[in-house]
Amino acid sequence: MSLVIKNGTLSGEKKDILIVDGKIKEIGSQLVSDNEIDASGLLILPGAVDCHVHLREPGHDYKEDFLSGSKAAAKGGVTSFLVMPNTDPPIDTVEHLSQERKLAAKSVVNYGLYMVGMDNVPEIQKAKNIAGVKIYLDVTTGNLNVEENLDALFSSFKRIAVHAEGKHVDESILRIKKTKNRLYLCHISTRDEIDFIRENKNKQIFCEVSPHHLFLTSEDEETLKGYGMMKPSLKTKEDQDSLWKGIADRTVDTIGTDHAPHAKKEKESNSPPWGVPGLETMMPLLLDAVNKGRLPLQRLVELVAENPCKIFDIPNKGKIKEGYDADIMLVDMGLEKKVKNSDMMTKCGWSPFDGKLLKGWPVMTIVNGHLVYDGTIHDMKGKEIEFR
Ligand code: DOR
Ligand code: ZN
Ligand code: ZN
Repeated sequence: MSLVIKNGTLSGEKKDILIVDGKIKEIGSQLVSDNEIDASGLLILPGAVDCHVHLREPGHDYKEDFLSGSKAAAKGGVTSFLVMPNTDPPIDTVEHLSQERKLAAKSVVNYGLYMVGMDNVPEIQKAKNIAGVKIYLDVTTGNLNVEENLDALFSSFKRIAVHAEGKHVDESILRIKKTKNRLYLCHISTRDEIDFIRENKNKQIFCEVSPHHLFLTSEDEETLKGYGMMKPSLKTKEDQDSLWKGIADRTVDTIGTDHAPHAKKEKESNSPPWGVPGLETMMPLLLDAVNKGRLPLQRLVELVAENPCKIFDIPNKGKIKEGYDADIMLVDMGLEKKVKNSDMMTKCGWSPFDGKLLKGWPVMTIVNGHLVYDGTIHDMKGKEIEFR
């Protein structure tokens, strides 16, 4: 099986990319194959690796499942995602993990699975090939927050991801420093948190921000109502500016969607659940920011592809490089289009960015050397990521 991407733009130069058996075989010019994709006028970027995605299988697959969520990913230029464990049942045992693995086989993009950290350290230690252990230090969807046993949990695995807000951020940083493990701070949203992270960052500590905190503020809550409710909540313009500053000075390491779909009916109810979908809009929002001069393209690639692979020990992904997996997005930087609820592939069928005009969209997505999205989704299967 071979495929060549012809005349795309890679790091400012016109290039062809030859893909053989799912890997990037050669980057050059005048490369040939029976199978060709014309990428003239398009940017070639590594597919995004989203470290923070909630699908709802098992338990609430009317909101999302591995197939619908992974189609949304492919459409959004996300070629791999790491899936959160706050399902029903939660992914707290090796048995639940192996059930989740069976469900995940439907995914059209590559995937890794988290386990949740509660009172289950022996189960975590039995588990094979997990993305990380997710510890909930605040109350959120799934009610999985823990207050006890935290030192044991922070020592239980080499990659610890936390939902931590406010003082829980500080406590997590102090706690991980007592171990040799890595800490991945999910969806950081305030100036105080960013400032604390900047001062206390070392090689163990990594910081994620999410698109909704970068592109919406608490002022949008009035119009969005339930559709603007998530944890952590939308913050002030000042907080938002500090996230962008953190991106510029490298306090921030990754951008992850925190894709958290809920049904329209639920979001319009009196007690809307927390969460917004993000897989289809992350790249268009960020590419639009590149077009507006807010974000250098190379920095974007680090945030959504290179750094996630470094932090989560994912080999052979995150770069367009000979020998690497052929997980690629082709981007039309000139394409201007509105986000529309009716275009959404996520089962929840809405976006908090509905109506927003954005310039710069992924138009084709290649996973493991197969064209999975080019305006429509083509049937294929992703693979489980093998963590180093
Ligand atoms: O808004 C959120 N939604 N925050 C979380 O921490 C969980 C997520 C979800 O699973 O719905
Ligand atoms: Zn969270
Ligand atoms: Zn989350």
